[in-house]
Amino acid sequence: MLRHIPVLAQEIYDYLPQWWVDWFDGTFWHWGHAEFFLSHEKEKRSLDWMMIIWTDVDVRMINKARELTKNYADYIDIKHCSYADIQNLWKSFDYELLDLWVNLEHFKDWSRWFSIKEDAPLDMRFNQESWITAEEWLQKSSWEVVMNALIKYGDFSEKTSEYLSKLFIEERKKNPFKTTFSLKDFLLHHHFNQKKIAVIFQVIRIMVNQELDQLEKFLVDFPWTLKKGWRCFIITYHSVEDRITKNAFKALSEGWEFVLINKKVIVPHYTEVQKNKAARSAKLRIIEKL
Ligand SMILES: C[S@@+](CC[C@H](N)C(=O)[O-])C[C@H]1O[C@@H](n2cnc3c(N)ncnc32)[C@H](O)[C@@H]1O
Repeated sequence: MLRHIPVLAQEIYDYLPQWWVDWFDGTFWHWGHAEFFLSHEKEKRSLDWMMIIWTDVDVRMINKARELTKNYADYIDIKHCSYADIQNLWKSFDYELLDLWVNLEHFKDWSRWFSIKEDAPLDMRFNQESWITAEEWLQKSSWEVVMNALIKYGDFSEKTSEYLSKLFIEERKKNPFKTTFSLKDFLLHHHFNQKKIAVIFQVIRIMVNQELDQLEKFLVDFPWTLKKGWRCFIITYHSVEDRITKNAFKALSEGWEFVLINKKVIVPHYTEVQKNKAARSAKLRIIEKL
């Protein structure tokens, strides 16, 4: 069993308003945050009025989640959908949390190619029911789409992005990319180092799962679902995700209905990063509906 430590859990708990009841955890996975908060609340009060709605797009997480949370089954409603579908839940919440990025199991599960360390078919979908795999994305996208993705989500220069996207198109005509190592070897052959290769894999994952579209949709819809006086928390691990969140929260706070709780982004203390490497790039932003 992988040991999972929820990121910035104490900081979020410290900023949670008292006596929250209706709770939305959009990226539940190992229920690390949920478990942390519930165990702390239990020391203070009965949980009888509480309801957590959990969503995760990864269907494989659902059975595992039911097993993990069986002692809290009365309080947890598990939904297989994207957090971006929050409005379809027809409910309003006291507390909303997104803890973005992949989870540890995704990296270990090389059959779905979240890790570049193992050879595996190019898949990379969080949601096995979604239509496009990494292989298909690489095979079907135009060079302009690939180039723009590399610029926007990989911070590559325009020149490098154009060069690489044209290389992809040329290569796929002769040798479609079917496995992790076929792509990795191709990039090594063209002098991209391991670090750059990891970034390129990440860009493809972001595109396959439409990760930033999901976040943008959530940021448009969540204000309608948050109760007055309550808070939304978002942890990001990628600079583009953080920028999108920061700008959306800032725009909301310029009206009269929302206020930023932390003007300066919250990052983990170095002692947390020492214990949990996954926390190293985490950034937390919090907004309250007045
Ligand atoms: C970093 S993990 C969350 C960890 C969790 N907070 C904990 O402490 O156990 C992120 C999870 O978000 C899920 N995910 C990614 N995109 C999603 C989306 N659009 N909707 C719902 N879940 C998503 C992934 O499958 C993954 O399990």
